[in-house]
Amino acid sequence: MKRQLIGPVKSLLSMSGLPLKGALTDTMLPVSQDSGILIHGDVIENIDSYNKLKEEVLNTGTELINLDGDYIALPGFVDAHTHICFNGSRAHDYARRNAGMSYLDIARMGGGIWDTVRRTRQASKEQLIDGILNRVEDLIKIGITTVEVKSGYGLSVESELKMIQSIHEANRITPLDLISTCLAAHIVPKDFAGSTTAYLDTILKELLPTIKSEYGCHRIDAFVEEEAYGVGDVEPYLRSAQEMGFDITLHADQFHPMGSALAVELGAVSADHLEASGEREIDLLAHSDVVATVLPGATLGLGCAFAPARKLLDAGACVAIASDWNPGSAPMGDLLTQASIIGSFEKLSSAEVWAGITYRAAHALRLDDRGKLEQGQLADFILFAGSDFREILYHQGRLRPSQVWKRGNRLI
Ligand code: NIG
Ligand code: FE
Repeated sequence: MKRQLIGPVKSLLSMSGLPLKGALTDTMLPVSQDSGILIHGDVIENIDSYNKLKEEVLNTGTELINLDGDYIALPGFVDAHTHICFNGSRAHDYARRNAGMSYLDIARMGGGIWDTVRRTRQASKEQLIDGILNRVEDLIKIGITTVEVKSGYGLSVESELKMIQSIHEANRITPLDLISTCLAAHIVPKDFAGSTTAYLDTILKELLPTIKSEYGCHRIDAFVEEEAYGVGDVEPYLRSAQEMGFDITLHADQFHPMGSALAVELGAVSADHLEASGEREIDLLAHSDVVATVLPGATLGLGCAFAPARKLLDAGACVAIASDWNPGSAPMGDLLTQASIIGSFEKLSSAEVWAGITYRAAHALRLDDRGKLEQGQLADFILFAGSDFREILYHQGRLRPSQVWKRGNRLI
């Protein structure tokens, strides 16, 4: 297996030793100077002083990758909530919302998510795969090395399966890791002949066993909201999915405070959105192991409030930040910009923002082999030009990584 030593890295933020939950200050950030990153195969073998590592690997056949100039190293970013498998634009919804209509009003009129369902059903698997791969190219440019991708625009056994297959196939092609999540409970399909319960039963029996055994999909999501699924509708479905071995994540508290309490009760891996969370929901999440994933892209796309990330952190929650990239509520798809912006609105330290898109986001996916730069972790890391880590968020997304490494391979 190939061994590579990369360095010297002027300033390396390993994120090592930081707590999973709660507030962080920048003084807690483990920053080391003039470091080397020693990679063996696709994992980090060691991180130490570059000169020391260079001496150690002398005459061992290790490839030396010398960095000319100053760089800041961070773990590769993890985008733990996206809907990048879709077809069609919703620019018309965006314009209608800016002209005064609400997201839920558009949904009530048969637009919104249902519009994307119609177009996604029309797309071939090849078209969906191409769409994912094109969006993944954009993600790589901002330093994302792991991305979660939801289904949820199929809403029938056949079309949801097509989406999961497309995500699975795209994952085989791209160097990034795509983690699939089944969101068949996104909204109630308007063309299903039967009750909501009957639809969810069909998904349970006819879709979930296949996606688990054939495509390794082990995550289930549901949109708990008015115009989507009520807690009573979806709870038995989620419990049955858990019994089948699926992890649960929920779209929770987006417009109304519903969903996060269910996430806590079920022991979900994460509750995402949280724009409408109040004191009770914040307290419940903070005293649980559920990751509170905030989605500034949906705030920017819908022009509404940010999720209370500051309060969640101060209460002790594990807060991740994800893009929610989707054609409706979050069309921007730029996690680095969005994480910088929520940091400025919610008064988050750099450490809290970095944690939210590195190891805490990895934990939302229960992938604890990434998100930190330390021995044994995947060799997923990014290098920004410069020596002061504060420059990165200061540029609000405009400063892009100069190098992106995934599993020991340089992508950019
Ligand atoms: O996370 N809120 C529900 N689902 C997506 C939006 C999907 C869409 O509008 O197409 C979200 O915001
Ligand atoms: Fe979403």
